[in-house]
Amino acid sequence: MGSPIVLGIESSCDETGAGLVRDGRLLGHVVASSMAEHARYGGVVPEIASRAHLHALRPVVRQALDEAGLRLADIDAVAVTTGPGLSGALQVGVAGAKRIAYALGVPLYGVHHLAGHVAAGTLEHGPLPDPCMVLIVSGGHTSLLLVRDLARDPIVHLGDTLDDAAGECFDKVARVFGLPYPGGPAIDRTARDGSPRAVAFPRPLTGPRDAPYDFSFSGVKTAAARWAEGHTGLELPVADGAASLQEAVADVLTRKAVAACREHGVGTLVVVGGVAANSRVRSLAEERCRTAGIELRVPPLKFCTDNGAMIAAVGDLLVQAGAEAAPLDVSIDPSAPLQYAALHPVAVAA
Ligand code: KG4
Ligand code: ZN
Repeated sequence: MGSPIVLGIESSCDETGAGLVRDGRLLGHVVASSMAEHARYGGVVPEIASRAHLHALRPVVRQALDEAGLRLADIDAVAVTTGPGLSGALQVGVAGAKRIAYALGVPLYGVHHLAGHVAAGTLEHGPLPDPCMVLIVSGGHTSLLLVRDLARDPIVHLGDTLDDAAGECFDKVARVFGLPYPGGPAIDRTARDGSPRAVAFPRPLTGPRDAPYDFSFSGVKTAAARWAEGHTGLELPVADGAASLQEAVADVLTRKAVAACREHGVGTLVVVGGVAANSRVRSLAEERCRTAGIELRVPPLKFCTDNGAMIAAVGDLLVQAGAEAAPLDVSIDPSAPLQYAALHPVAVAA
């Protein structure tokens, strides 16, 4: 028998994802998004997301299996996001994962959503070097993490956002600028036609006495809103505003991430989460890592946003590490802090 095949299920927000991974390699994955259903509300509506997961889960798992040329019975382990996320949405994925694990008699693993983001890059770039620096930038999180062995070691938080996440800042400012939801991609597109130097938005927490690895984006958001208000009655130069906002956010993120690598003597920076899709975050990270002699890893766009393959990737690592499976009554934890990749107590084989 070959290495075990791990099914990963993700349903923490508005994407229903199923992925199949064996030995660090992706066999198939499918994502269904309810994003369009939330668009007219300007943000994710939890009840709509839960219902969409309920409809999408079975077809998404079936399609992922089809893509991989596998049958349900081929699955050797099931990994599922148990938190953090929207509770109703998480419940749907966890219930589905339990059903499959129970029916097949295979182990179940509860995975931290952010650990999934951390592992996303391994599907393209191979195992994470130990140690590596991980910058997680999504709609709900902005953190700098020192990661060793993802399946075994605790994850060290060097810093987190004190208020808004970077993606949240993009989403909220986009609204003020009259751009469509989701705001991040809209800012990115609009910024192409603007000047990053048009508006001097603040770079919060970058002073000599500030916490070096914490972030704060609510001041940038407010500054952008004030700037837009200053144009009331006039045409808003949206492209300049978007380019300048994007520059401020990308500058702070990459400056702190590279400084953290330098200070901790870490040679690899991994940038993950939805905002890792941002073109300026990517290009500035490349530029600054090249100058500092740091290897940069950014997963392909399809693995930057929420998906099941990244959860399967963590499950695969846990299986390989001989981690203990979750009990079948494992529950969700909507606000789980990121400490370990597995969201239930695990004993790993020595
Ligand atoms: O990781 P993700 O799919 O979901 C979670 O928050 O967990 O990240 C979504 C976030 C949203 O705030 C979205 O606006 C942002 O990522 N985003 C972007 C881009 N693509 C997605 N932000 C800036 N530029 C982009 N190209
Ligand atoms: Zn996410």
